[in-house]
Amino acid sequence: MNRKPIFAANWKMNKGPSETEDFVKSLLSKLQGSNFNSEIVIAPPFVSLAKLADQLHTATAVQNAHAIQIAAQNCSEYDSGAYTGEVSVLMLREFFVHYVILGHSERRSIFGETDAVINAKIKKAREANLKPIFCIGETLAEREGGKLEEVLRTQITGGLKDVSEKDLAEIVVAYEPVWAIGTGVTATSAQAQEAHAFVRSVISGLYGADAAGKIRIQYGGSVKPNNAAELMACPDIDGALIGGASLEPQSFFEIIRNGTQSA
Ligand code: PGA
Repeated sequence: MNRKPIFAANWKMNKGPSETEDFVKSLLSKLQGSNFNSEIVIAPPFVSLAKLADQLHTATAVQNAHAIQIAAQNCSEYDSGAYTGEVSVLMLREFFVHYVILGHSERRSIFGETDAVINAKIKKAREANLKPIFCIGETLAEREGGKLEEVLRTQITGGLKDVSEKDLAEIVVAYEPVWAIGTGVTATSAQAQEAHAFVRSVISGLYGADAAGKIRIQYGGSVKPNNAAELMACPDIDGALIGGASLEPQSFFEIIRNGTQSA
């Protein structure tokens, strides 16, 4: 199955507009002349979306820019109105946003997002033709308690409830074991591959083997330049969602380079 790897930088609550500008300049100069067969995505905080869009647009005009897609880190499940502090999918479209990270474990654990809320956001994102990066993953206690498969199955079926096969084709899944996020502890490639194969089997049960074979499943959780190649060499791993190591242009670039070569 030919699935194009996708490497996404999740900056979380880091980098305002001026740091975004510096990062993009540096990353573009590193990418210049390279032609990785992968998709590159950057998810800055909302307030840096305009700067990122501007920079990428200018760079494309100057040509030579690797096509970098823009992602938001969240969106509202509502269209508009009295929802203080929220940002709608149509607003995101104005900043040339193509992807939106949904269901990240920090949104689930710190902000109380349930599978039902995540499901509503996925459907709202698809209404505006945004592509969800749909995050799932178990805690250490759940894994050690033998609940890995049950947790993943619940998150997948809840998050994708009433999502059509057509919309599924525009979704990227990110498997991120919570115990590996920001901890420096990466899942071994065997653990990651096993979980990814399971995720694909659950999707196959819901949508059929063809749809499951096409969907991209990223790994996330302490991905670094020195472990990207081994992780990306696994048959069911189709890219990475990168937090800490995406904050430096050099390490993000090296992850894309090392990961793509072995994908
Ligand atoms: P990390 O974060 O790479 O810093 O572990 C990954 C994520 O939260 O998406």
